[in-house]
Amino acid sequence: MIKVLFVCLGNICRSPLAQGLMEMKIDELGLNDQIKVDSCGTSQYHIGEQPDERTLKNALKNGLKLEHQARQFSRKDFRTFDYIVTMDKANMDCVKRLDQTNEFSDKFMLIRDFDPVDKGADVPDPYFGGEEGFQHVYLILQRSVSEFLNQIIKTHGLNVSIS
Ligand code: 4NP
Repeated sequence: MIKVLFVCLGNICRSPLAQGLMEMKIDELGLNDQIKVDSCGTSQYHIGEQPDERTLKNALKNGLKLEHQARQFSRKDFRTFDYIVTMDKANMDCVKRLDQTNEFSDKFMLIRDFDPVDKGADVPDPYFGGEEGFQHVYLILQRSVSEFLNQIIKTHGLNVSIS
């Protein structure tokens, strides 16, 4: 089983959306038995909460129902997950700092390393902005997650079912 962890700050806006988008695509491609996805935040701010109302509403508008309970990143995750994918450089720095001996650095990546439009940029934090910020994040994650999954399929030689 390939295990992917998406990481943002609060685990209520960006990373639960990345998780939901990836799970939808995994489902479409019949890869449920081969890839497992989770998400978390580096902060303690929203532990136990459902995704932000605006994230839920925006995802639904795009046909995606999100279900997730926020949790904080834990050092245990370094061993559990094969890919630790952060939404921005600040959260990347945070997980890097927790990996004091650089034992797990090969697992770290930025989701927008896979964005064909603005490679390596941060996914902007929509929390303090307006509705349009949530759609902007949705479009960024839709294309970045899709490309990330394509990369995983290639790297691991997975067979996808076409239905
Ligand atoms: P997220 O967004 O990291 O994408 O879940 C945020 C959610 C909450 C806060 C910041 C960012 N906050 O400061 O409470």
